[in-house]
Amino acid sequence: MSERHLTRPDLDALPSYVPGRNPSDLARELGLPEAIKLASNEVPYGPLPGVTEAITTAATQVHRYPDMGVVALRELIAERYGVDVSRVATGCGSVALTEHLVKAATLPGDEVVYSWRSFEAYPIIAAGAGAVSVRVPSNAVHGHDLDAMAAAVTDATRLVLVCNPNNPTGTAVRRVELDRFVDLVPPDVLIVIDEAYREFVTDAEVPDALLRYGDRPNVVVLRTLSKAWGLAGLRIGWLAAAPEVADAVRKVVTPFSTNSVAQAAAIAALGETDEMRRRVDLVVAERDRVHKAVLALVPGVPETQSNFVWLPLRDGAAGFAAACEQRGVIVRAFAGDGVRVTIGTPEENDAFLAAAESALKA
Ligand SMILES: Cc1ncc(COP(=O)(O)O)c(C=O)c1O
Repeated sequence: MSERHLTRPDLDALPSYVPGRNPSDLARELGLPEAIKLASNEVPYGPLPGVTEAITTAATQVHRYPDMGVVALRELIAERYGVDVSRVATGCGSVALTEHLVKAATLPGDEVVYSWRSFEAYPIIAAGAGAVSVRVPSNAVHGHDLDAMAAAVTDATRLVLVCNPNNPTGTAVRRVELDRFVDLVPPDVLIVIDEAYREFVTDAEVPDALLRYGDRPNVVVLRTLSKAWGLAGLRIGWLAAAPEVADAVRKVVTPFSTNSVAQAAAIAALGETDEMRRRVDLVVAERDRVHKAVLALVPGVPETQSNFVWLPLRDGAAGFAAACEQRGVIVRAFAGDGVRVTIGTPEENDAFLAAAESALKA
């Protein structure tokens, strides 16, 4: 009799989720008043004005199911970003929408192409759907090699992920290379452009995919309210796609997964564009300061267009992160490869830079 498993044996090859260090626990352990978390690419300035009030009001109705059509929010997004509402779908974070896209586009054995290293959720999402990951090595400066990615597309490819700017390296692909790539990928393959960090982009050569490629039937643009808009804890993201693609996503989405509190909070947050921009500008100024400082400590730190920096420390990555942690600063290590450090407040960044300097000199 063949040995049977309760769950799919192929999942054994996937990394188990390792939660980040809790700052309160770390502070207690180190005997510090507080620890600093620069590990999840959040913006450090709290919810945008009006969001807490919107959440409080929405909380009085949580015995009711949310609006499954997410009508008010989708209409607001459609108007704000100049896309037809039929092209907008929302989800429980843009990571869930990536999952739904892969589920909607692939059958087991189909290929999903992405750069590596990129967002750590991509391999997990592909494997979860039974799709085959085709990882195209990053270029020498930790960015996407789009020509190699286009060349990796085969008849079995159903979806290509472009993370722009890229998590965890912060690098961004520019208009000329992305134009060429979008033309090279066959029209029956979905190109998913993950713009979770779009609001932090300051390089005018890095295109807004919604504006530039949004009318292409095989392009999907992913956005999130978790980062610049400050709603990471509520889990809400959205995509713009051809109406039939958005419709397919809405078919496979977990019912009601854009919850009512998140819908209300997103509407309130999107009403605060000026304040969002002001905060993003603070982050960008700090990003440029931190980038310059880390470049003096670690050779090869790539340019960043996001709200984090990448330290290509290779075998030193895990030790560096552990040393920062001992100094009360939590950063995100990718063992054997590098360390991603989120830009925080000026004080938090100073604490990180001091920790980094002593870690690297130790
Ligand atoms: C590249 C990228 N895409 C998507 C996400 C997911 O964002 P959300 O919180 O909307 O699921 C993240 C979050 O870290 C990310 O880095």
